[in-house]
Amino acid sequence: MPEATSPEAASPGPGGTASGHALVLRDVSAGYKGIPVVRDLNLEVRPGEVVALLGPNGAGKTTTLETIAGLNRPITGTIGLSGEAVGGRPAHLLARQGLALVPEGRALFPGLTVREHLRLAGGRASRKGGSSEEELLEMLPELRKCLGRKAGLLSGGEQQMLALGRALVTRPRLLLVDEMSLGLAPVIVERLLPILRRVAEDIGAGVLFVEQHVSLALEVADRAYVLSHGRLVLEGAAADLRGRRDLLRSSYLGEAAVAAA
Ligand SMILES: Nc1ncnc2c1ncn2[C@@H]1O[C@H](COP(=O)(O)OP(=O)(O)O)[C@@H](O)[C@H]1O
Ligand SMILES: [Mg+2]
Repeated sequence: MPEATSPEAASPGPGGTASGHALVLRDVSAGYKGIPVVRDLNLEVRPGEVVALLGPNGAGKTTTLETIAGLNRPITGTIGLSGEAVGGRPAHLLARQGLALVPEGRALFPGLTVREHLRLAGGRASRKGGSSEEELLEMLPELRKCLGRKAGLLSGGEQQMLALGRALVTRPRLLLVDEMSLGLAPVIVERLLPILRRVAEDIGAGVLFVEQHVSLALEVADRAYVLSHGRLVLEGAAADLRGRRDLLRSSYLGEAAVAAA
């Protein structure tokens, strides 16, 4: 993505968004029925950057991704996608603007084949020059041998690869991935996570991913944010956080640790 050239483009746009970013969240609160479970969230992802969203169960990670993806309206704050304020815009419009979400639980159709999933997702994208099936299969070669198989008959790892492949055929500018490794063996997670790095490098997308395997996540990510009880408690370069286990552990323990002190 080109760097911003005009002063207007470089300065914050509508809703405080900056066009050099794939994603900008400013003071976002999100939750359910008007009750926030995530508060005052400030977060950024640049094109080509891989960012981990970490934190214990119930911290608000899925709520955050679903709010960015337009499945949930932010209660307050602004969300910028490639420089445009998009908070509250519905998911199908955000998808057209280059946002793709790999949801928790994958949301595949068990009776459809791998090829059918890819064609359904890629139809619109291929008309506007999206990545071809062939390009995708080079990135995810494991899918090649099961193109004709129904999703319901795939292994967990293959299903997750399909969920990722379905997002990638749209050639997203921002890829959101929720707990890709849920229920998968660590050896499969080690194969899957580096694909996020390739997505960022090969197609220049910004990647924001939620992951429970903290060490694996920090090996793949450029930066990470840690949420606890709906608030950001730690953020930084992955390389720094890798060396700060103590800090990470206490931010995971969050208020429990404070209360026990
Ligand atoms: N549909 C919902 N309605 C009401 N509360 C919800 C809903 N989904 C999640 N929550 C609550 O929001 C909080 C954050 O959940 P979630 O975003 O799923 O956390 P995480 O993904 O970090 O585990 C939790 O307290 C959870 O119980
Ligand atoms: Mg979750």
